[in-house]
Parts: sequence; C-alpha cells; structure tokens
Amino acid sequence: MRHILVVLLVCLTTLLCWTQEAPRLILIGPPGAGKGTQARNLSEKFKLAHISTGDILREHRKQGTELGKQAAAYMDSGKLVPDELIVTMVAEKLAGDGGFVLDGFPRSEMQAQLLDKMLAKVEHPINRVILLLVPDDELVERLSLRRSCPTCQRTYHLKSNPPKKEGFCDSDGSELIQRKDDKEDVIRNRLKVYHEQTEPVLRHYKDQPGVIEIDGRQSIEQVEKQVEEAVAPKVAR
Ligand code: AP5
Repeated sequence: MRHILVVLLVCLTTLLCWTQEAPRLILIGPPGAGKGTQARNLSEKFKLAHISTGDILREHRKQGTELGKQAAAYMDSGKLVPDELIVTMVAEKLAGDGGFVLDGFPRSEMQAQLLDKMLAKVEHPINRVILLLVPDDELVERLSLRRSCPTCQRTYHLKSNPPKKEGFCDSDGSELIQRKDDKEDVIRNRLKVYHEQTEPVLRHYKDQPGVIEIDGRQSIEQVEKQVEEAVAPKVAR
C-alpha cells in the first residue's frame, strides 16, 4: 500500500512539474534549417501544439480565404507577410495553456514584442528558444530538393529523407509537390529576408530565456536528439 502511494505521489509531482514547465518553445532558423521537421517530431513526442505560420498560411491559400489571397504574393516572392495579418492568426492558436512549439514565428522584432504581450496576458512566457544553424549554401541545396505533402505538410528530401514510395507521402499517400518558393531565386531572397529581418529577433531572447544553438548540419536523427534534450524538462528525462 505504501509503495502504491509513493508511486502515485511521484506521478502526481511529475505531472504537476510538467504542467508548470510545459515547453513553450520557439524553433528559429533560416528557411530549410529543419524547423518543420523537428517541430513535427516534438509535437508527436511531447504532445505539444505545433503552430507553423507557414503551414497555416498555405492552408488559407488552399481554402481561398481573404487572408490566403493577401498572403500569396508575399510568400511566392519570399517576402514576409505583413505583421498585422500574422499576429491575429497566431493569437487564435495560443488561446490554451498547454505546451506549444512555434515554427516560423516570430519572424520580426515587432512579432516578438507582440508575442510577449499575448503571453504576458495568460502568464505563460516562452521558456525555450532553439536556433538551428545551417549555412546558406547548404540550405539552397536542401530546399531545391525538398518535396512537400500538400495534405499533411510533411516534408521530404530527395536525397537525405526520401519517401518510401517515390513521389508520394508516407503518411497519407498524397502526391508530393515542390513549393513555389522552393525555386533558387526565391530561396535566395528568403535567406536575405531571414538575415535582415529575422536574425535580429535573436537579440530579443538573448537573456530571457536565452537561446540554445544546435548545429542543423547534422543528420535529422542527431538534430532530433539534441532538440529533445533541450526541450524535455528535467523531471521527464
Ligand atoms: P515557412 O513555411 O515558415 O518557410 P521557412 O521558414 O522558409 O521554412 P521552411 O518551411 O522552408 O523550412 P524548415 O526550416 O521548416 O525546414 P524543413 O523541416 O521543411 O514560410 C513560408 C513563407 O510564409 C515565408 O517566406 C513568408 O512569406 C510567410 N510566413 C510564414 N511565417 C511568417 C511570419 N511569421 N511572418 C511573416 N511571413 C511569414 O526541412 C527542409 C528540407 O531539408 C526538407 O526536405 C527536409 O527533409 C530536409 N532536412 C531537414 N532537416 C535535415 C537535416 N538535419 N539534414 C538534411 N536534411 C534535412
């Protein structure tokens, strides 16, 4: 009986710590650094909401909404969609108090400040920021060879991460596509925009909570291991 009580107490403490310390995490990095790949894994493994502004925008475009129409030209040329359109979209997704992983947001200093305000209201600040580092030339190669599932948004790479059946998604069998912005000239523009507008966001998190840097040139599995170590709270290790 005493043994069962101890086990119950440990489980309860673990659950409590997890709730208090639920990862509220930003994955940041240049286009193609592997944010989506890692965010999907974290979301499955730690049951976190995966909030990808790129995926949400692509879904709006697919549905032909007003937001999707307004975003299209920015996305296809590799520019950032205006902050006011993005922030309203994210606010709706951050309503709950569970853990989440932000993929592709914030991408400008204005977005980072607005995110702070949104989270201050619910007293759940960001507690982890992970930066995936990959040099530009490698990213151009990666993105040129990326193929994406239009249904579940899962991504593949023709060399390093091919689908089991060529041309089709492993998860839902949809025919894979090449994103319009995965053409070399647009990729280079996305990288320029990242260096000019998104890199400064890192300064915002320099002290609180600090930025964990991970070498994104390693294999997907190696990056996954380091990202998981950075995310899992001590109680869950
Ligand atoms: P978005 O969809 O967010 O694109 P992105 O940031 O450019 O990032 P990607 O999705 O291209 O790359 P990723 O880092 O997720 O890499 P992935 O895991 O797929 O945004 C698109 C557009 O929407 C923007 O340009 C903008 O217009 C607009 N937008 C979105 N958010 C916005 C915001 N907040 N504000 C304003 N505008 C916004 O991996 C890439 C490839 O590499 C894959 O093929 C993968 O299989 C492979 N790979 C992954 N990891 C590895 C590895 N370790 N080794 C080898 N290959 C790997």
